[in-house]
Amino acid sequence: MEPQAYHRPVLLEAVVEILSPAPGKVLVDATLGGGGHSRALLAGGASVVGIDQDPDAIAHNQPMASDRFQLIRGNFGDLPELLGSTPYRQVDGILFDLGVSSHQLDQPHRGFSYQLEGPLDMRMAQAGPSALDLVNRASLEDLARILYAYGEEPASRRIARAILQAREHRPIQTTTELAELIRKATGHRRGGHPARRSFQALRIAVNGEMEALSRALAASEELLRPGGRLAVISFHSLEDRQVKRFLAGRRSLVAPGKQPVVPEQREQQDNPRARSAKLRWAVRQETET
Ligand SMILES: C[S@@+](CC[C@H](N)C(=O)[O-])C[C@H]1O[C@@H](n2cnc3c(N)ncnc32)[C@H](O)[C@@H]1O
Repeated sequence: MEPQAYHRPVLLEAVVEILSPAPGKVLVDATLGGGGHSRALLAGGASVVGIDQDPDAIAHNQPMASDRFQLIRGNFGDLPELLGSTPYRQVDGILFDLGVSSHQLDQPHRGFSYQLEGPLDMRMAQAGPSALDLVNRASLEDLARILYAYGEEPASRRIARAILQAREHRPIQTTTELAELIRKATGHRRGGHPARRSFQALRIAVNGEMEALSRALAASEELLRPGGRLAVISFHSLEDRQVKRFLAGRRSLVAPGKQPVVPEQREQQDNPRARSAKLRWAVRQETET
C-alpha cells in the first residue's frame, strides 16, 4: 500500500520545523500510523522511535525499520515502559498525532465508520472489549454519560434509550445498524451526520483515549530532556482542551504561543481530515535545582 493511501500526514511542515530533526537527535513518534511524520523526521537525520497500538501500523512500517527507526507496538499511555525497551532514557522530541488513521477509518471491518457497513468494533489495538460489547452491555446511564462526555451529543439520553430499546429484541451488530438507529432517534439535523458525535464518543470510550492521553502527557514531561519539544495534534475540542490545560499547568513545559497552529487553507482543501486539526507545542525547560 502506498504510504499516502494509508494516511496523509497533517501539518507535516510545522511538525518538522518544531521537532527540527538532525543527526544525533532522538525523536518519538507516538502515533506512527502510516509513518508519514516519521519518514520526514528520519529524512532530517534523526533517530526515530515509532509507536502504535495497531498491529497494522507496525506491519505497514516494518520494511523501513533500521538502526535509526525502531518500531514498538503498544499504547502511548505506557510511554515510560515502552521507551524502557530502547536505549533512550530521555529524548529530544515527542509527537502525538491523535485519533484514528485514514486506514483504520476506511476499512469497513474495523468498524470505525458510520458510513461503511461493518461489525461494531472500533478497537485500535485489535484486542480487548469492542464497541459491540459496550453498545450491547452498558447501562442506560453509562451510555448516556459516554455520549455526552465524549461526543458532546445533546441528544445523549434519547440515543441511549433507543439503543436499550433496540437491544431488547436482539443485539446491535453493525455500524450502519447503529447509525440508522441514531438517525431515527434524533431526526434530521444540521451539522453533519446525526451519528458522528456518538461514533466519536464510543470510539473514545472503547480505546480509553482520554486516559491514555492524560498519562502520556504527564510522562512526556519527564521523558523530554531540557530543550526537548512536545508537539500534539488534536482533532476535536475535548482533546485540544486537555492538551491546552495540561500545558497551562506545567512550569517545566513552556508553550510558545497561546493559539494553536492550524493547517493553511490549501492543506484544508486538499485534505478534509486536516480541517479540524490543531497543533500545540511546548519546550521543556531546564529543571530547577
Ligand atoms: C492520526 S493517526 C497517525 C498518522 C501518522 N502521523 C501518519 O503520518 O501516518 C493516529 C495513529 O495513532 C494510533 N494511536 C492512537 N491512540 C494510540 C495510543 N493510545 N497508543 C498507541 N497508538 C495510538 C492509531 O492506531 C493510529 O494509527
